[in-house]
Amino acid sequence: MQKEIVNLLKKEQKFSDETIEEIKDVNLNDFAEIVKEIGKQDTDYIKSSEISKDLNTKYIGKNLYVFKEVISTNTLAKFLSMNDVENGTVIISEKQTQAKGRSGKHWASPLGGVWLSIILNPNVDHSKLPLITLATGVAVAKTLENIGVENPEIKWPNDIMINGKKVCGILTEAVAKFNTIENVIIGVGIDANLDIEQFPEELQSGTTTLKKELGRDGNENLLIKTFLEEFEKISEQFSHEGYEDILKEWRKRSYSIGKIVEVREPFNTYYDAYVLGISKEGALVVEKIDGTLEKVISGECIIKN
Ligand code: BTN
Repeated sequence: MQKEIVNLLKKEQKFSDETIEEIKDVNLNDFAEIVKEIGKQDTDYIKSSEISKDLNTKYIGKNLYVFKEVISTNTLAKFLSMNDVENGTVIISEKQTQAKGRSGKHWASPLGGVWLSIILNPNVDHSKLPLITLATGVAVAKTLENIGVENPEIKWPNDIMINGKKVCGILTEAVAKFNTIENVIIGVGIDANLDIEQFPEELQSGTTTLKKELGRDGNENLLIKTFLEEFEKISEQFSHEGYEDILKEWRKRSYSIGKIVEVREPFNTYYDAYVLGISKEGALVVEKIDGTLEKVISGECIIKN
């Protein structure tokens, strides 16, 4: 982790190589303070001042750290979460060099997208993590609706789709100590002001961007602000009212229900099934070809029809 922070500082070009060599021996708490200090400045593209102006939240995004380039906002958020940060702290970067997608995949993060991570201290056990991911998906879908996207849909568990193509992914990671969750890192990547040609060729046919769908560049700071507000609303609902209404909102926007999919569970178990719905734990409920029902808790679903 220390090496990653050193790399981060290198990318920020705030420190000479000699200073970085010295910093390697600084204790991690001091490191965290240095990183926070760097993150207080606006970048060319992301402006904390615009995001924070009239931000209607109680705790989400009250502490914002913005960077030009990091390895991964989730990695940095994990590091900061172990070094005394407030619930609801948000890390944003213009670019990421080693961003993480689900199932160990790389996540393309060029300049123009919205790449952010929220540090939450939700006081839940591991079984609630899938629900947090689903709730985040609903917050992203509502955000997109607010900025004028018609009918964004959610493909289980965490892909936000427009016209059948992916525009956003969510990666939820837990920071646990002795089996107890200390913090949850919610990473969100939105393909905002990007052209399809900026993505690797193999991703282009399944990917879309807000710029393409709306036919114009959008204001990324306003997009982030709207998302943080939607996220806090849903996070409050999650803590105080339970998950039933959130699941209803998810089902209303589902891209998966009623489709035939190939379920790819960990350890290479693949099978075709019909998607019936999602359970109250956030699992995908499917009917296999032999008529048996299955709850898919983790894995991927490739849509076949
Ligand atoms: C997916 O595979 O669909 C999840 C992609 C999650 C990408 C986001 S971008 C911000 C945050 N930092 C990361 O390294 N990953 C997440």
